[in-house]
Amino acid sequence: MHGPGNDDGQDPKEKINYRATFGLLKGLILSEKRGFALASVWLLLSTALTLLTPIIAKYIIDTAIPARRTGLLLASVGALFLNSLLFLAFNYALRMSLVKTGQRIMAGLKKRMLAHMLSLDLPFYAEYPVGRLTARVQSDTSTLYELFTETTITIFRDILMFAVTFAVMFWFSPKLTLMLSAVFPVVIALSTVFLSRSTALFIAVRKLASEITGFLTEHVNAIALLQAFNREEMAAAKLEAVNRKKFETEMSAEMLMVIFFMSIVMISPVSIAIILGAGGRMALAGTLSIGTLVMFILYIDKLFEPVFRLSEHISIIQRAFTAGHRIQRILERRPAIADPPRPHFLRSIKEGIEFRNVWMRYADDGPWVLRDVSFTLPRGKSLAIVGETGGGKTTVTNLLFKFYAPQKGSILIDGTDISEISLSSLRRAIGLVQQDIYLFPGTIMQNLKLMDDSIPDSLVHDAIKTIGLEAFFRRHSLSKQIVEKGANLSAGEKQVISLVRAMTLNQDMLVLDEATSHIDPYTERTINAAMGRLLAQKTMIVVAHRLSTIRNAGEILLVSEGEVKERGTHDALLAKGGIYSRFYKLQFGEDAL
Ligand SMILES: Nc1ncnc2c1ncn2[C@@H]1O[C@H](COP(=O)(O)OP(=O)(O)OP(=O)(O)O)[C@@H](O)[C@H]1O
Ligand SMILES: [Mg+2]
Repeated sequence: MHGPGNDDGQDPKEKINYRATFGLLKGLILSEKRGFALASVWLLLSTALTLLTPIIAKYIIDTAIPARRTGLLLASVGALFLNSLLFLAFNYALRMSLVKTGQRIMAGLKKRMLAHMLSLDLPFYAEYPVGRLTARVQSDTSTLYELFTETTITIFRDILMFAVTFAVMFWFSPKLTLMLSAVFPVVIALSTVFLSRSTALFIAVRKLASEITGFLTEHVNAIALLQAFNREEMAAAKLEAVNRKKFETEMSAEMLMVIFFMSIVMISPVSIAIILGAGGRMALAGTLSIGTLVMFILYIDKLFEPVFRLSEHISIIQRAFTAGHRIQRILERRPAIADPPRPHFLRSIKEGIEFRNVWMRYADDGPWVLRDVSFTLPRGKSLAIVGETGGGKTTVTNLLFKFYAPQKGSILIDGTDISEISLSSLRRAIGLVQQDIYLFPGTIMQNLKLMDDSIPDSLVHDAIKTIGLEAFFRRHSLSKQIVEKGANLSAGEKQVISLVRAMTLNQDMLVLDEATSHIDPYTERTINAAMGRLLAQKTMIVVAHRLSTIRNAGEILLVSEGEVKERGTHDALLAKGGIYSRFYKLQFGEDAL
């Protein structure tokens, strides 16, 4: 309904890769071997203790009471009490060791996912919307947490409890135990029917829940737009509709659950009736002791509980595999643009940059966005790129920073193809002011240092001085707090900040993509004057619509429909009387010439 990001990211046709997912889960468990081993010890001990209670009860009834020995009776009751206390203690130890182990695994997994995601390239982020990625990191890891801390251990306990209970009961009375076994098929049938009906409902509920979250995120983000266009009521009505659907689905799911538990609850009286009826007759015949009869009654829940929890376990395991599979898919994803095995480290740009017959499209079946683009930019010179909206200017900068790779042609720095150059060294050598500016929540100073506290303040002050913006920053305190997405700054202020941010690292080369489009003429004049000085010393690529910004560039490329249509200096292009001169006349009128 609101695009692909708002379902729970599960493609129903997608096959779960059980092998890979199992590998991931196994790796996670092995990473905390000791924690799980310790938990297993506590589990064994606490389960053994719960199973001991009915046996002590049998002993009291069959041995201590008939012997009329008060001392023995009191000792047995004492043992019963101690048994319960110890059970509590072991259970506590079990829970705590599981929580600790589970939390450690999850923290490690989240760290691994984030580190991995940071290494992935932009095509990956185009495919995975932010909402879905946060869901992967948050809700899928918590599903796994549940698997590790709850399910796995309960399954072991259930298997253990069932096997031991069955064995003990069978040991004391095979006949009665086999009679009780007649109830198993009913329990299994009930829970299977319940599970097949409820799973679909619960998946629907989860989907609707994430749809609501997605809807809220989307609409809160666009709140100003909604209010400006008076669309609040429409949004509220849409949300109401999804909410109601979720309510109804959830009600049917819960109703099914209640019916199931009511029928399961009936199992217990039925089996007690079997024990008292059949077992009672055996007791009358003298083949069964009263103690054993009581022991059977005390054991009965321990026998059936694991059986009806079986289907629940299966569904949790399925969910965990789905979650694990989705996490695994992100973790196994390799960036399309990765360093070659022996990357060339770029220390500085000595000769310059060359684009040689570069062709680029964003999707294999999409249109060409750049067609046969070639240019050279010698060190210390500047290049301006102008052209119509959507012409391909930002794409040129995307390729230079290896955010994407061209399909044909090559991009060379000092004669080395950038595909051979280490990504980090490339990006360290070139500074970038992007068209879409992102600022982090924090102070202006922190943002100017890209949230890197190891950068000294003096570098920032130097950068401000180089661009001549001291007056601007006297008006805008460096300690001003920026809120999320820089929402408490004007568009021009953000541009000034991102410009200074790029200048702070004082790199060899600078790429400015529409760096001054929102800045007032006075501030822009200050910046342009500084740019004029910089253009003389730095290697620069400047993308701009305002032609006043680029007049002084060494060479101007006019890019239109992905092709370089004109190139030359400002004066040469004006004299030529082509597209550039028409652009220029539009902006400044005929008189400007
Ligand atoms: N990530 C992307 N995926 C698919 N297509 C894209 C992507 N980015 C840009 N495009 C398309 O590529 C073409 C060139 O885009 P580009 O951003 O390079 O234009 P531009 O010259 O920088 O425009 P503007 O002056 O508006 O900034 C456009 O048609 C655009 O729709
Ligand atoms: Mg652009």
